[in-house]
Amino acid sequence: MTQDEMKKAAAWAALQYVEAGTVVGVGTGSTVNHFIDALGSIKDTIKGAVSSSEASTEKLKALGIEVFELNDVSDLDIYVDGADEINAHNQMIKGGGAALTREKIVAAVARQFVCIVDNTKHVDVLGQFPLPVEVIPMARSYVARELLKLGGDPVYRQGVVTDNGNVILDVHGLSITQAAELEEKINQIVGVVTNGLFAQRGANIVITGTPEGPQIK
Ligand code: 5RP
Repeated sequence: MTQDEMKKAAAWAALQYVEAGTVVGVGTGSTVNHFIDALGSIKDTIKGAVSSSEASTEKLKALGIEVFELNDVSDLDIYVDGADEINAHNQMIKGGGAALTREKIVAAVARQFVCIVDNTKHVDVLGQFPLPVEVIPMARSYVARELLKLGGDPVYRQGVVTDNGNVILDVHGLSITQAAELEEKINQIVGVVTNGLFAQRGANIVITGTPEGPQIK
């Protein structure tokens, strides 16, 4: 079974958490793209979606799924999204697709975060995947110096501008054992919009695609 087939299996398994008549929070990435296809198959039973990126919005609309502004939605049952890494406490690194800020906002509103991953995303310690940090452009060098002080090695993601008009620093070389504390510390650096640690608000349900089929925790 390929990695993409495992992503697809996890994504389609997430349909069981979608209640009829609701608005669904939708993340970003290749795993979520499978979930959007799955949502398309039940589009007449849901009210619509709230999206975490322009890319997901485009795909949702192309399938005929109505996309609501988050400000027009008072509550969300679920938010379904992938992850770049996830640990045994359901804490994640996200932002490989540079959509971390909107992802974190939609996740904050949802009652349940359903994380869909293939089995390569599980790690003992977060940090092998460089931690994305969204930064206001004029603060890039300052924030990079502050991240160095925290023991990381920040690398500017050349040529990438987020949907919010900001830039991304990918922090290499971290071994993240205190994820919630580090999440807070990085967010306190002036000029940081947010970072890709989803520790204070982790996943509630994790669906992992494996060669034996989707496993749910
Ligand atoms: C985008 C993300 C994605 O969820 C993460 O990068 C995983 O992507 P994929 O499903 O393509 O492996 O955080 O900002």
